[in-house]
This record gives sequence, structure tokens and C-alpha cells, in this order.
Amino acid sequence: MSADSQVSRSAEETIARGKELASKMRAPLLVLLSGELGAGKTTLAKGIISGLGAAAEEDITSPTFTLVHTFTGPVKVYHVDLYRVSEAQEFDSLGLEDLFAEPAIVLIEWPERMRLRSDWPVLRIDLEHVAEDERRIAVRDGT
Ligand SMILES: Nc1ncnc2c1ncn2[C@@H]1O[C@H](COP(=O)(O)OP(=O)(O)OP(=O)(O)O)[C@@H](O)[C@H]1O
Ligand SMILES: [Mg+2]
Repeated sequence: MSADSQVSRSAEETIARGKELASKMRAPLLVLLSGELGAGKTTLAKGIISGLGAAAEEDITSPTFTLVHTFTGPVKVYHVDLYRVSEAQEFDSLGLEDLFAEPAIVLIEWPERMRLRSDWPVLRIDLEHVAEDERRIAVRDGT
């Protein structure tokens, strides 16, 4: 268990931090991205997914309306946003258990919206809005 917290002063810096984190990620891994609206979860995911070589930065957008974006690169990556999921919906009924069928990197924004069922190693990342362009990025290795 290790913890690490850094302040990013721009979206570009957050993307760079995501790429740095990606270099240490190995499938299977569940990455929980927490933080309020606009905290920078999708921006960090852009860095992680492009850093994993699974997509170009400009092709990584918010999965808010589609629930899951799937990327097939050197490693399979799923980018999930549970923001619009209602309390009545469940993990299985959304087909989310399918994401864990094979080793992959699964990134989840708004993970607190739902009880997740996975026994994969977890990396918890909390983003906090400090000032207009400043975000605190805290990473906790939960394995
Ligand atoms: N240091 C920073 N790190 C990340 N984003 C920043 C930073 N400074 C400013 N921003 C801006 O904040 C916004 C973050 O939006 P982003 O979509 O990444 O947030 P989010 O946490 O995914 O929000 P949501 O909960 O709506 O999905 C972007 O417009 C980005 O340009
Ligand atoms: Mg987002």
C-alpha cells in the first residue's frame, strides 16, 4: 500500500501525470477515478489511455452518455463513466461484469455510484479542485 499526492497546474500537466501512471500499470487492474464534476477525471484518463498506447489523446472523450468506451491497443482498456447510472441499475444488468472477463485496464469515473464486483487489484485516484487550474491528484495503491 503506497500513497502519493501531487498538484497539477494545468490540464496538460494532468495528462502528463496520467501518462506517467500508465507506464506502471499492468492488466488486470481496476482504476477508480473519484472527484467532483470537472475535477479532471476524464483529462487524467486521456493521459492514462494514450500512455497505454490504446488511443490517441484526441480520440479519448467522456463516456458519460455511452457508459463504456472500449480501446484495443497493446492492452485492452475500458473507460467507464457511471455518473448517469441510477441507483436502481445494477452492475450485472449493465453488462459491466463482461469488462472483467479477460485481463484489462478498467478505468471508472464516479465509481461510488455503484457497488462494483471485481477481485482485481485496485488503484484509487482522487482528484480535488484546488483553484481554477489547479488540481490535487492523490493516488493510492490498494493492492
Ligand atoms: N490542472 C488541471 N487538471 C485537469 N483539468 C484541468 C486542470 N485545470 C483546468 N482543467 C480543466 O478542467 C476540466 C476538467 O474536466 P474533466 O472532463 O476532465 O473533468 P471530470 O472530472 O471528468 O468531470 P465529470 O465529472 O463531468 O466527468 C477541463 O475543462 C480541463 O481543461
Ligand atoms: Mg469525466
